[in-house]
Amino acid sequence: MSLEIIILAAGQGTRMRSALPKVLHQVGGKSMLQHVIETSQRLDPKKIHVVTGYQSDAVKENIVAALGERAQNICWVLQKQQLGTGHAVLHAIPAVDADSTCLILYGDSPLIDAKSLNALCDKNIGLSIMTAKPENTEGLGRIIRDSQGKIAGIVEHKDATAEQRLIPEINTGIMACEVNLLIRLLDRLDNRNSQSEYYLTDIVAAAVAEKEDVHAQLAEEPSRLMGVNSCAELAIAERSFQLLKAHQLMLDGLTLRDPARLDIRGDPTFGLGCVVDVNVILEGKITIGNRVSIGPNCLIRDSVISDNCQIHANSIVDTATLGEDCEVGPFARIRPETKLTERVKVGNFVELKKSTLGVDTKVNHLAYVGDSTVGKDVNIGAGVITCNYDGANKSQTVIGDRVFVGSDTQLVAPVEIGEGATIGAGSTITRNVEPGVLAISRAQQKSIDNWRRPKKK
Ligand code: UD1
Ligand code: CA
Repeated sequence: MSLEIIILAAGQGTRMRSALPKVLHQVGGKSMLQHVIETSQRLDPKKIHVVTGYQSDAVKENIVAALGERAQNICWVLQKQQLGTGHAVLHAIPAVDADSTCLILYGDSPLIDAKSLNALCDKNIGLSIMTAKPENTEGLGRIIRDSQGKIAGIVEHKDATAEQRLIPEINTGIMACEVNLLIRLLDRLDNRNSQSEYYLTDIVAAAVAEKEDVHAQLAEEPSRLMGVNSCAELAIAERSFQLLKAHQLMLDGLTLRDPARLDIRGDPTFGLGCVVDVNVILEGKITIGNRVSIGPNCLIRDSVISDNCQIHANSIVDTATLGEDCEVGPFARIRPETKLTERVKVGNFVELKKSTLGVDTKVNHLAYVGDSTVGKDVNIGAGVITCNYDGANKSQTVIGDRVFVGSDTQLVAPVEIGEGATIGAGSTITRNVEPGVLAISRAQQKSIDNWRRPKKK
């Protein structure tokens, strides 16, 4: 039997107290709905139906922008009025193949994993639900079992008696059902409950009444199945997600000084022998080679960092490529479109932007190098600035191999410094410099004798 997946994502998420639709709130730098869709895609279903309602266009646009081509196989379903989870599934049903098995997921449960979903679908005959025994059951639907321990139904927290609220087993919201049966069960739903909603959960009692098999699978990792209804729960989901990611990276051989103090908002890959210190944030697509070390408090985004690089404390590397054996920081800021070839050293309080630095080049202290091409074995002194912007346009600076730029120099672009030239400290260079020469534009030093400092009146 083929598999189709319905993801419910139409609710506003009132308890979030936010204008942003709940399913667009992010966990690990991705919307919760994107997580659920990506996990669904791993099951290779025939179709994925996403039910939207509150700000449906915004939700759809966000997912299409994030997933690109991978959003093409999604069937978007509009549930104009959000009258409950059962009502939402009813809207998706017309587009679902009647001879398939349908897996129903909630867009606010971002941590679910393909392995446990597969297990639920594989075992399904009739109706299967995934249950859990989490530490905190507040707000969740409770699983009602009869005297023989067989599933009898689900009662929502708001409708439950004080006694029922003591039941430790809850409904995670994940169900698998043969579509023909699902259609019959949905037909029996009503909204006679405390919230006047058509509860999807009521199909369980309906199935029992029809003497259908209801299978329940208790989740092994309840933390993976939590739904997010408030900002506090979003923070709990974020921490769980980060710890899961950190543990995966450690299993792959990454040394983490503290797995609780790493934040991954994308997809980093690490080579062997890498070490990451505390409070590091990794965003977007990051490729890291072997034996790379990242110091404390660094932010790395969309970058390639090759073998043996060292990123020291408090540095930012954003959309850059670092060749082998480079050293960056502490307190360096590498901005987009920067390329460090090999053995480049970038020291403290150095900002680089749209620049390429050649092999063995050093920019060790307090410099700004932007829109520049810098050759091999160049030394850029402390306080050097490429003046790349005249208030209207950006211009290029080209520095040849083995150039020495003395401290506190301004290179007013467009300008070219020829191979092997030396720039005296404190110069303002406005014209091209020939190879091999010493260029200096500093005022002559003079001494004034018998100078008296002013005295305080
Ligand atoms: C639901 C379950 C509850 C379960 C819990 C697990 C029901 C009635 N209750 O409660 O048993 O323990 O999840 O996390 O199903 N949605 C729609 N259309 C609607 C209403 C909701 O698409 O008309 C979507 C929401 O956007 C959300 C999901 O369905 O993604 C679940 O809705 P929510 O209101 O969060 O249900 P819970 O109260 O958490
Ligand atoms: Ca929920």
